[in-house]
Amino acid sequence: MTTQFPLFGELLERLRLNWRALPDKPDETPENTLRALWLRAANEPVSIPRLDGHDLPVLNAAAQTHLWELVNQRVKGTPLAHLTNRQDFFGIEFLASSEAMIPRKETEILAGAALGTLRRLVQARGHVRVVDLCAGSGNVSLALAAHEPNCSVIGADISPDAVRLARRNAEHLGLSHRARFLQSDLLSAFSASEFAGQVDLITCNPPYISSARTEELPLEIAEHESKLAFDGGPLGVKILTRVIREAPRYLKPESWLAMEVGVGQDKAVARWLERSRAFEDVEVHHDSEGRVRAIVARTVGTAWRARAIDDGHRPGGSRLFQLCEQDEKLLSGDETPNLVEVAPVGREFGR
Ligand SMILES: C[S@@+](CC[C@H](N)C(=O)[O-])C[C@H]1O[C@@H](n2cnc3c(N)ncnc32)[C@H](O)[C@@H]1O
Repeated sequence: MTTQFPLFGELLERLRLNWRALPDKPDETPENTLRALWLRAANEPVSIPRLDGHDLPVLNAAAQTHLWELVNQRVKGTPLAHLTNRQDFFGIEFLASSEAMIPRKETEILAGAALGTLRRLVQARGHVRVVDLCAGSGNVSLALAAHEPNCSVIGADISPDAVRLARRNAEHLGLSHRARFLQSDLLSAFSASEFAGQVDLITCNPPYISSARTEELPLEIAEHESKLAFDGGPLGVKILTRVIREAPRYLKPESWLAMEVGVGQDKAVARWLERSRAFEDVEVHHDSEGRVRAIVARTVGTAWRARAIDDGHRPGGSRLFQLCEQDEKLLSGDETPNLVEVAPVGREFGR
């Protein structure tokens, strides 16, 4: 390395003069970007948080040429994660590529809120079934599966490319036995007989930028990441409002929906959740600057969508619910199992 110090210094200067980090990738500096690219050129790819403990190896002539190319691509705007094919999320090393959005630091707020909820559900119910909508590279789905062994996760994304990358990530992390991925427009590919009233937790990091504002995204994002990952329709909330409408049919009573929201969207989203009659106990989670970035809400236990039909005297205090349509018509038949047993969860749950 010492003999290659001039090369390091020259490339560092090039990055310092010609490249600026984006606010949504706060970890990146010229120094650690160059170290990550150096290791990529040496065929030892790692994400920035894993640079510690990696000495920079001596590069042969071919690897030095490759490093020059990587630095030039970074200066021209190719995201670091697309060059290293690695991205850290929630302490886990993911594979990254142009097939799906690069996981962002801010989404760790959603993952943390969802993991807290998941762990309390596991305490109450034993094994927990999670559905992660808009799964992208599988970062939220797989972070939950990695940190909580007593759950199974199904991640869904409308993009077949994203589903391919998420499946590779599940393999890469050895989690394919508990995390699977399917292509679906939100919940449309989830069969009612297998999922209606059967899910304990739904998570979602939707696209939530208005279509007009996606035209103003920095080139590094606009030219390298799919618009599908950002475009939330004319007002930015097209997917969020659909999730609030569609999730209750799939969630058990007294179960949870956790969503990332854009800065400033929290009050409207909380209002929609409360007005939906399907949710109560709306919790908000803030970033370090005090802005709400994730919202978690619990489905009502005994309101219109599920009627308790016993007094909670079942073994372990669990209750039996009968699923209803909004007009109290019972759901039944082959399509939907109309009896659901739910373990008790205290009122203080999730607060
Ligand atoms: C903001 S990205 C989130 C990706 C990943 N969960 C993350 O946190 O990095 C939104 C994702 O939603 C997907 N998406 C957009 N519309 C969708 C829809 N109608 N149904 C399912 N997925 C959708 C996009 O393909 C994209 O992968």
